[in-house]
Amino acid sequence: MSHKLFSFSTIPLFFIFCLPPLVSSFPSGGGRFGFGTYDFYARSCPYLPMIVTNDVQTAIRNDNRMAASLLRLHFHDCFVNVIVAGCDASILLDDTDELEGEKNALPNRNSVRGYEVIDSIKADVEKACPSTVSCVDILALAAREAVVQSGGPFWPVQLGRRDGLTANKAAANSELPSPIEPLKNITAKFIAKGLDIKDVAVLSGAHTVGFAQCFTFKHRLFNYKGTGRPDPALDSSALPNLQSICPNQDSSNTNLSPLDTASVYRFDNGYYTNLVQSTGLLESDQALMGDSTTAALVRAYSMNPYLFSSDFAVSMAKMGNIGVLTGQDGEIRKVCRSVNN
Ligand code: HEM
Ligand SMILES: *[C@@H]1O[C@H](CO)[C@@H](O)[C@H](O)[C@H]1NC(C)=O
Repeated sequence: MSHKLFSFSTIPLFFIFCLPPLVSSFPSGGGRFGFGTYDFYARSCPYLPMIVTNDVQTAIRNDNRMAASLLRLHFHDCFVNVIVAGCDASILLDDTDELEGEKNALPNRNSVRGYEVIDSIKADVEKACPSTVSCVDILALAAREAVVQSGGPFWPVQLGRRDGLTANKAAANSELPSPIEPLKNITAKFIAKGLDIKDVAVLSGAHTVGFAQCFTFKHRLFNYKGTGRPDPALDSSALPNLQSICPNQDSSNTNLSPLDTASVYRFDNGYYTNLVQSTGLLESDQALMGDSTTAALVRAYSMNPYLFSSDFAVSMAKMGNIGVLTGQDGEIRKVCRSVNN
């Protein structure tokens, strides 16, 4: 039998579209990177992408900061307790008598937002396809959708992650990067998750959207390290505005400044332009200019938005696959805030 028989030109188009998707999903895990495929839920929950797109759109319309918040929520989920499970929706679990969650860990408490948005997407998904789609997959898709809807890049999200059964508050406290620790330390935390120094430079570009509270950077504005002067790594042109948002008193601690003042809600390469001009907001942001490897990347991204977009997409796909639970591990939660009983 000739191979020609099976060439596209000899098969009517309608027949191609009617072929059952025999090899389109690997429910038991498998797939090229050890777990599911992009269309893992194609048959079990065909409207999943549409539900996520619509619900994220509604959430951003109600609160334009929400795109940033969803992206950060995904990051803070994936980065914690990777030996047990990285991206596992552990951050979504509420505290109970049996389980101390991650929501009240220092990097998360009164800072991470978007839990209600994930709850409502999950509720809509459960209506359409009960006990089918994991909370962690919903979170990964919502973060991607938030970036796309903010003008940022699309990246393929492999699906089939399963929800964790535990959370680890101590790990959330110690493993998430701090804005006042050196780049060396932050890089070490990324390497511990299988990422590298390039991922630090690329993923920090997420700070092109969203806000930071004054207490995370105010030490740079008035009396940096006891010098009686602002941080010399911060260009003085940025000072008047930041000092007015964050007056030198504790009552300003929770006031908000955009991480990228130039384009607050736009996912672009403005973050890198700021760093080149020494107007990065967090000390850890500006520190990317203090290392030759990361500074070269910052300069490249500041000049080439497409390079940033494509590298960000690659690093996000990598981040979303950190320590995922697959196959029979974990579970499909019914509600994202608690494990099934
Ligand atoms: C590299 C080390 C990082 C450090 C030290 C860091 C630190 C911070 C801090 C201190 C804030 C402000 C929180 C607040 O004031 O409540 C923040 C916000 C944010 N971070 Fe990061 N971050 C890092 C990496 C990342 C990564 C990898 C992502 C995502 C891929 C990310 C996404 C965000 C977003 C989107 C916001 C704004 C959230 C909002 O407005 O709700 N960050 N980050
Ligand atoms: C950075 O890491 C070193 C070595 O692990 C540690 O001793 C130091 O306390 C860390 N610095 C900060 C500011 O966290």
